[in-house]
Amino acid sequence: MAKRPHGYHPIILPHHLSTIMSRFFALTFALLISSAPLAIAADPQSTSITRVLFGSCIKQDQPAPIFASMATERADLILFTGDNIYADTDDMTVMRNKYQTLSGKPGFSSLINSCTVMATWDDHDFGVNDGGADYPKRSESQQEFLDFWNVPADSPLRQRPGIYDARIFGPAGKRLQVILLDTRFFRSPLKKGERRVGGPYYPDDDAEKTMLGDAQWRWLGQQLRRPAEVRLIVSSIQFAAQDAGQECWANLPLEQERMLSLIGDTNASGVVFLSGDRHWSEVSASVEKTPYPIYDITCSSLNQLHPRGTPTDNRYRVSKSTYHRENYGVLQIDWQGDDPTVTFQIRDLERNPVIEQTLTLSDLRGR
Ligand SMILES: [Fe+2]
Repeated sequence: MAKRPHGYHPIILPHHLSTIMSRFFALTFALLISSAPLAIAADPQSTSITRVLFGSCIKQDQPAPIFASMATERADLILFTGDNIYADTDDMTVMRNKYQTLSGKPGFSSLINSCTVMATWDDHDFGVNDGGADYPKRSESQQEFLDFWNVPADSPLRQRPGIYDARIFGPAGKRLQVILLDTRFFRSPLKKGERRVGGPYYPDDDAEKTMLGDAQWRWLGQQLRRPAEVRLIVSSIQFAAQDAGQECWANLPLEQERMLSLIGDTNASGVVFLSGDRHWSEVSASVEKTPYPIYDITCSSLNQLHPRGTPTDNRYRVSKSTYHRENYGVLQIDWQGDDPTVTFQIRDLERNPVIEQTLTLSDLRGR
């Protein structure tokens, strides 16, 4: 592995590329195949981020023409927010092959070579549908994930259980913090009951149950105390949505409250959640017991249609509609002016906005 300046995070490439290319050739390759600006050439501490793409839920065996749409967006950063493949296996050879199928899809390599990439997982790339800490191959799966997303050999992510990670981009006054949660590795079993529209799960106020586990909660508190103007907390599952049988934070209400308390206790302004998982897109907002409205931009799926086509009940939904065809998210940050704005759009395959939410930084401060 090439030596990197202290504090420098590399662009993330799939494992098979990293093993056959030096960083120099990777950069040259990226320059040749993409006209998008390359964050790799800049120190992430000093370059402000203005455009972020995000998306989730890629069936690796199905066509994904949306990668070509995304590649024209000229983003600084792309966030893969979970279910990046449908591994659903205990067999790591099978999982590795499915990652290779993803990396071979038309447009995928050129997309992720066009800018900085960060990723977390959800249940299907973790390894099992709706899975948590009782998935027996979670440590092996973690290594597959880190290899595929080319996490360096000396990264702390290879020294600890779970794939949670965080970075801050940009100079003081224009800092974007990205916090990737791991909602799978440590998660306690969920309470099941009679199946509802969204699934079989019900809220459980058992204080022993956890979403993130002690170590990740401690780490998150440290991250939220770091200075930043905008903070994206990527949770693969919905944070703010109403429970309706599906997997979501509302199934562990004490953990959901713990998150809101932590945001308040750390005086962490600028928090917006990004989630995926659902195979539709919508915007939700929590306003109860929160220091300021906590928005959750749910963006899913990159290449699947939701079979039912109707969303579950969600009294916290603030978008006028939901969107159930292939889509991806765009965050545009306008750092100019006294009160910078963050605009989130869900875009369809033709890049048309279908859902939009604009917030100012003053919307995202304690009341
Ligand atoms: Fe999922």
